Amino acid sequence: MGIFDDLLTENLSDKQALAKLLSLSEPDRQQALFDKALSVKAATVGRFVYLRGLIELSNVCSKNCYYCGIRAGNPQVERYTLSEEEVLNAAVFAHQNRFGSLVIQTGEQTGPAFAAFIVDILEKIHAITNNELTITLSCGEQPLKVYELWKRAGAERYLLRIETSNKDLYYTIHPRDRHHSFEARLDALKYLREAGYQVGTGVMIGLPGQQADDLAEDLLFFKSMDIDMVGMGPYIEHAATPLFAKRHMLMPASERFNMSLRMIALLRILMPYINIAASTALETINPLGRQMGVLAGANVVMPNLTPVSDRKKYLLYNNKPNLDKDASLSTKSLNAAISAIGETICFDMPGDSIHFQHRTSPEPGNSLS
Ligand code: 5AD
Ligand code: SF4
Repeated sequence: MGIFDDLLTENLSDKQALAKLLSLSEPDRQQALFDKALSVKAATVGRFVYLRGLIELSNVCSKNCYYCGIRAGNPQVERYTLSEEEVLNAAVFAHQNRFGSLVIQTGEQTGPAFAAFIVDILEKIHAITNNELTITLSCGEQPLKVYELWKRAGAERYLLRIETSNKDLYYTIHPRDRHHSFEARLDALKYLREAGYQVGTGVMIGLPGQQADDLAEDLLFFKSMDIDMVGMGPYIEHAATPLFAKRHMLMPASERFNMSLRMIALLRILMPYINIAASTALETINPLGRQMGVLAGANVVMPNLTPVSDRKKYLLYNNKPNLDKDASLSTKSLNAAISAIGETICFDMPGDSIHFQHRTSPEPGNSLS
């Protein structure tokens, strides 16, 4: 008897229990949590890893999030948008390397021209890859009509991180204005669900002023929103951002890293059938971060396919890894790294969220998360 009895799913709806588990720091107890998450993973989604080729399509952004290196107010950023040819080359690379799936990410841009640009990209990627790649978009808050338009054009999944589910904390990391409204972000997540996407969200872990209680609430938020996919990782300071001024309030990077792994592990136990990404930010703090994320319960990794020449312009935070690595090299090393930890990369597979499949075509009596 002891704390590991709390690891049973039915006890985890309690915020206090979650906060206590998030605060575990003794290495053997933390390891027991990861082991539990891995056994849940093995028994539900299996010890498989799905690849999403990440294309950072444009670093143009109209927002001013205090933590982000490519915020509109950072004049040091050289802005770019990939050419159609560059995007299609990356998509063809993903297809030829049997990735099964792509993520297209941009800063937040709105308006009809941008909406049409994305439609065009979606249609051309599908045409050139024989409709064999599943596409996830991560292009910020948009009106329901735009989400519907992109869905019709062939996007099946969408990532929009809530960043933190604590509204007060949210406004310490975003300007308090109508362009950065917490309610608008919640509404956007609801629109995505309404438009029929597999919906992904996530948070940053180890923000200045963030407590274990807040992170416990974040986990319960994912559950209450019945989310299909989560990408979350450590907050990493960027020197040219306003939040850098609060760096004295941060936990050491190694603790933000371990806290992120505990978040992944608890989420796998809490929502066994969702997709969870091992974020690039994990790898930024620890070169083995992605593998450790997978061993704590993640089942998705996102190799970067952005042309190397533009990669250094998409710096959300300092020390982003793989800035000069060619995609083919990182893919090869990734395959070896994933096999070495006893997991199998599923090539040519879309890797849909099983949670989404359950909620959209539930079998009678199926109450699985
Ligand atoms: N540290 C960690 N993650 C960050 N992001 C943006 N800036 C940072 C940072 N400094 C994350 C946000 C955003 C995603 C695209 O990148 O969560 O949603
Ligand atoms: Fe723009 Fe996203 Fe960075 Fe915010 S986090 S400034 S919306 S790119």
